[in-house]
Amino acid sequence: MDSADKENTLWHPVALAHEVAQAPLAVRLLDQAVVLWRDTAQQVHAWADQCPHRGAQLSLGRVCGDRLECPYHGWQFGSIGQCVHVPALPQFVPPATHTARTFSACERYGLVWVALQADADEMHIPAFAAETDVQLRTVNCGPYDVATSAPRIVENFLDMAHFGFVHDGWLGMREATAIDDYTVEATPNGLRATQCKAWQPQSNVHSTAPAQVEYTYEVLAPYTAVLTKVPDAASVAVQGFRESIGLFICPVTPESSRVWFRLAMADFDSPDKKLQDFQHTIFMQDKPVLESQRPRRLPLDVRAEVHTAADRASSAYRRFLKQQNIIFGVC
Ligand code: FES
Ligand code: CO
Repeated sequence: MDSADKENTLWHPVALAHEVAQAPLAVRLLDQAVVLWRDTAQQVHAWADQCPHRGAQLSLGRVCGDRLECPYHGWQFGSIGQCVHVPALPQFVPPATHTARTFSACERYGLVWVALQADADEMHIPAFAAETDVQLRTVNCGPYDVATSAPRIVENFLDMAHFGFVHDGWLGMREATAIDDYTVEATPNGLRATQCKAWQPQSNVHSTAPAQVEYTYEVLAPYTAVLTKVPDAASVAVQGFRESIGLFICPVTPESSRVWFRLAMADFDSPDKKLQDFQHTIFMQDKPVLESQRPRRLPLDVRAEVHTAADRASSAYRRFLKQQNIIFGVC
């Protein structure tokens, strides 16, 4: 298996589930044009967005019941990709060769996930543990189109040393920028960083006073990470508040990405928009810095950039990508 094959076997988020409605939807994943469409049983399909006849973009066509119709000569393809109707030759029975290229698709966390191979196992979709916690309410935030690689975005998510600068007055402050020791360990699908502490003026949507906050970060897949705020006894007692945030990234091209956050919070009262607005404010602080980083692809050679002990989560992430033979979005 070469590196490109490796990435094609992974599941990636590509769209919000509700965006795939009556019309086919064009998305891009790992530089591959993909068409998403939904059949009458509400099953989502992901195919190469290129008709096998003369290469027209299938996403410009239309959904006819359980078939996708090409915009050019009206060929119709059934849900397994097989051409079932050629309008120019109504009696013609298309052979097996007349088939659209199909990928794997399914819905999870309010998003459509795609693997660029047929019959990928849904078991391998990254598991967002907070999803099944009945005390947490979930809401999605995004999409955000970001002009950088997916690994740069994951690395920023794992990075606490920028809080006092990029998020001054929110997740950090210039007066308290030191990073305490924290622990990083490898996991079967990525890594886990624990005891990550930060002094935060406004750590979440409900904060009324600065607080010392402890995080756990987990990388669940090359382009998926989760942070969980470890509740301190005082804030649980006062607010009953805890949260977990999933970072789900579609690697669109090696240097551009589409990002969603899934917020899981012990808050069933606030309107979605209030929770989304806080996350939006924070990410808008990150985005210009992220887009300024050069190279846009994450350098995996340890000599390409310089490191400190505060960067040990980032260094572990780079080692993980290297071990996994990830080539998309790295250099
Ligand atoms: Fe699609 Fe001809 S190009 S039907
Ligand atoms: Co940030």
